[in-house]
Amino acid sequence: MKPTLETERLILRPQAESDTVELMAMSMDPQVMEFIGYGAMTLQESEELTQETLEMEGPLGRWIVTERDTGQFLGWVVLTHLDGSEDIEVGYGFKVLAWGRGFATEATRRLLRYGFEDLGLKEIVAVSRPENAASHKVLEKAGLRRRGLRDAFGLRGLYYFVARAGAPVA
Ligand SMILES: CC(C)(COP(=O)(O)OP(=O)(O)OC[C@H]1O[C@@H](n2cnc3c(N)ncnc32)[C@H](O)[C@@H]1OP(=O)(O)O)[C@@H](O)C(=O)NCCC(=O)NCCS
Repeated sequence: MKPTLETERLILRPQAESDTVELMAMSMDPQVMEFIGYGAMTLQESEELTQETLEMEGPLGRWIVTERDTGQFLGWVVLTHLDGSEDIEVGYGFKVLAWGRGFATEATRRLLRYGFEDLGLKEIVAVSRPENAASHKVLEKAGLRRRGLRDAFGLRGLYYFVARAGAPVA
């Protein structure tokens, strides 16, 4: 079971059926998807991904991030196996209207704490396209450090970031 997690401004709750329209709209938005995978998804790809993450059982998977004060849907965060490997990656996407307010950093920090403190993970990793400067900032502010390059999801030379248990989560 995935718990609901809270921060000062945010609520992170497990993805539900009712999030489908918002999530599909995000994965078909070229701005949101500019540096994710192969860009904006088709309707069918988006529906399949949304269903796949909805069905993820157990302590890992996708959380929906809402604003605590307004209940507004802001975006999503994931904690899951990196491209089928043993490594556990953190990832995120926010609606364009929600960018630039520190939400991604706040949600990522909370998810790292959950991973290290509640799940006992030793390491949490992330990959990001070299051009995705905003994402690198988020990862570094949340306490991950760059460790060279890694290939994943059929993409070569992604920036590879690692956070280790016990190291300060910023
Ligand atoms: C990446 C993303 C999650 C950032 O969300 P956010 O809530 O705006 O992030 P934050 O506000 O916590 O932090 C962003 C930081 O990047 C900086 N930033 C934003 N755009 C930038 C750019 N083009 N170049 C450099 N830095 C940039 C911001 O100034 C901020 O840093 P600061 O706090 O030092 O000012 C958001 O842009 C997004 O959803 N992008 C599309 C999905 C995506 O790319 N996900 C990551 C895949 S690896």
